[in-house]
Amino acid sequence: MNLGKEMSVILVILGVLLCKAQGAVHHHDFVLQEKNFTKLCSTKSILTVNGSFPGPTITAHKGDIVFVTVHNHGTYGVTIHWHGVRQPNDPWSDGPENITQCPIPPGTNFTQRINLAYEEGTLWWHAHSDWTRATVHGAIVIHPPHGSSYPFTEPYGQETLIIGEWYKGDVMTIIDDALATGGEPNTSDAFTINGQPGDLYACSNGTTHRFSVVQGKTYLLRIINAAMNEAHYFGITNHSLTVVGIDAAYVKPFTTPYLVITPGQTMDVLLQANQTPGLYYIVASSFQDGSSPYDNTTTTAILQYSGSSNASQHPPMAFPDFPEHNDSTAPFNFTNRLRGLGSESHPIEVPKTVNRMIYMTVAVNVLACNASTCDSTTKLAASLNNVSFQTPSIDILDAYYWNKTGVFTKDFPKEPPNYINFTDPDNNAFTTTGTRVIMLNYNDSVEVVWQGTNNSLNTAENHPMHLHGFSYYVVGQGWGVFNNKTDPESYNLVDPPEVNTVSLPMNGWLAMRFVANNPGVWFMHCHFERHSSWGMDTVLIVKDGKTNETRMLPPPKYMPPCSK
Ligand code: C2O
Ligand code: CU
Repeated sequence: MNLGKEMSVILVILGVLLCKAQGAVHHHDFVLQEKNFTKLCSTKSILTVNGSFPGPTITAHKGDIVFVTVHNHGTYGVTIHWHGVRQPNDPWSDGPENITQCPIPPGTNFTQRINLAYEEGTLWWHAHSDWTRATVHGAIVIHPPHGSSYPFTEPYGQETLIIGEWYKGDVMTIIDDALATGGEPNTSDAFTINGQPGDLYACSNGTTHRFSVVQGKTYLLRIINAAMNEAHYFGITNHSLTVVGIDAAYVKPFTTPYLVITPGQTMDVLLQANQTPGLYYIVASSFQDGSSPYDNTTTTAILQYSGSSNASQHPPMAFPDFPEHNDSTAPFNFTNRLRGLGSESHPIEVPKTVNRMIYMTVAVNVLACNASTCDSTTKLAASLNNVSFQTPSIDILDAYYWNKTGVFTKDFPKEPPNYINFTDPDNNAFTTTGTRVIMLNYNDSVEVVWQGTNNSLNTAENHPMHLHGFSYYVVGQGWGVFNNKTDPESYNLVDPPEVNTVSLPMNGWLAMRFVANNPGVWFMHCHFERHSSWGMDTVLIVKDGKTNETRMLPPPKYMPPCSK
């Protein structure tokens, strides 16, 4: 009797200890469903999660596991991706359509396991099927592990601000039409902050998002750029912002009047409510990349000090100062200010030497078009190392795991086919096509240098380059063509920032490093949705290591089926 009691006490203590070490387990249901929303004076039905736009926030602590059961009550297949979550050894829950899974058919569900073992800060989730992510996305807020705290003074309050992009038309139709005719997709009609366009758009000023603060307090803002095709300046009139984290990794704090935030990026920023109580604009204003058409409208929210009027009518308000809309030095200079925190509990583990070097051109191109729907003899395309990615009809992960042939080839080029002057506007705009993947050995130290390009289309841009399954260290960037002798001399191998998405400078280069210690199948692509649709993508396959801990997990019992 006595022994039994002691045993159960010991078991309870053991259980508590184990729980602590493993973090908490959360469960969410995501119901994909159509819902009507009225914006910009008109009503349309959009695909949502649980009927909200943006969708629900997942809140957890570092070290927790979150299970999400996605129930597809819509009319077409969709997948969901956990942007920036490493998903150690487990690509099965990562989500990109026909890369790690086939779409979840209408009327069925799929449970995904999100392992928050590595990240701390803000990430987000989004649909990863065609253009559905325009309306199907939400925040992932990851607090410090239980029992530890932020590497800065505990803020008085927190607010998540999601920049979105609103199209009056149906997004799936917009991209399907563009791909059929070979031209540019329509640009959006508005940007939104937490689903609201704000004061500068017709029929919108009654619903502008407001965030209330108390004078003298400090707030942690979690800013997510969930827009489809445009980078943004972000700022708050009369207030400066102190950046403390990016892509769920801490940086050395720096203070700036505005952020430059590109699609896919998340930034954690401290805001001191230190101005005269009143209303101040929170503004996200789009950045014009190159010469392609863009939505030049501006979305606003309101920072409202306690004690000031709630009335939706307010006197005209001032705007924060931003650089010119097409100032390509702005994203470059902003990236230059990012430095990894590098504290004892948040160390910087950048590889000092590399054994795999990949030099990769990033380009907007054309392909010959003879389809009857084409507007001309060519259609727009995009490529990495002159390969325009062709998405297979069944997923690459399944094909790799079960050794199915004919789905992809293992020969993505490690360098561009020709060493030309990549930024010359007279370059030929044609590309080749393929489903060619990069094979990496477990524990390879990898350096990728992305090279911006120009050609006769004059489409040089800043591309938000994103990698699944890893965060990577940004060790250098520069203008023009990368020089592999002199440029590495200026690399930052001391305190580079760790990110999952970064803006490749227009007509410049950016060098990043990571250790390939996450076995699996991982998508790499530009986070401008039109570029990804045109083929600015590839896949990294990291092979298994030799021990159980370094092998990819087996597939879960149920994966969405690949044929109808
Ligand atoms: Cu945010 Cu492949 O995605
Ligand atoms: Cu791009």
